[in-house]
Amino acid sequence: RAEGDLAGVRVLVTAGGTREPIDPVRYLGNRSSGKQGVAIAAAAADRGAEVVLLAANIDGAVLAEVTGDPAIRVVPVNTTAELDSTAHAAAKGARVVVMAAAVADYRVADVADQKMRKEDLTGGAPTLTLVENPDILVSLVRDRQDDQVIVGFAAETVDSEDELLERGRRKLARKGVDLLAVNAVGWSEGFESADNDVRVLNFDGDIVAAVAGSKREVADALLDAVGDELDQTES
Ligand code: C5P
Repeated sequence: RAEGDLAGVRVLVTAGGTREPIDPVRYLGNRSSGKQGVAIAAAAADRGAEVVLLAANIDGAVLAEVTGDPAIRVVPVNTTAELDSTAHAAAKGARVVVMAAAVADYRVADVADQKMRKEDLTGGAPTLTLVENPDILVSLVRDRQDDQVIVGFAAETVDSEDELLERGRRKLARKGVDLLAVNAVGWSEGFESADNDVRVLNFDGDIVAAVAGSKREVADALLDAVGDELDQTES
């Protein structure tokens, strides 16, 4: 399969990591490079899909792989709130949604409108109060369009393969997605690197793909699984 199997299919991919402002010059962020999501967007376009890529704080060098591709519309986003609204708008016309972005679970409650200055902080180190962000994936599943295939990601720090799968299956149930790509992350694993080692679970928790390789190879294995889901929703 692969070649042209997503011809004309609209695919929404989110990638990168959201940032939450603390003040005009500082933010809370995460180490997601966006490479896996960008590889999925590129692979989907090569299979004929029309892709919208919501790029959360992705380096120009990483995005270079997809800029100029007429089949991929890149929309830059920054905060979780921005990703939330753009993802919901873009999901309306999408047959496939792949939520590869690392989304901040919390944001800063009161964002300072001036730079926080050490000399102004008389009480010593400041305390940041955080509030929970909405779970975008859960709300996309709740608002799911007819026949839409929704894919989530789970990056976990784990001690074993069993723990990875167990956490993945629990997350699958919580989020209600059709497919969940799970991978182990750590100080030197998963984020930022060129390679990835992923298991793809279906709604029932069965492993439908297991692939260790370049992020492009992982992207193609994931899209094979997406293709199977599309075939099922069509029949
Ligand atoms: O719960 P966890 O963050 O591990 O879930 C990961 C999946 O959920 C990813 O697909 C991520 O894009 C999505 N997510 C989200 N909104 C959040 C947190 C995670 O859409 N607030």
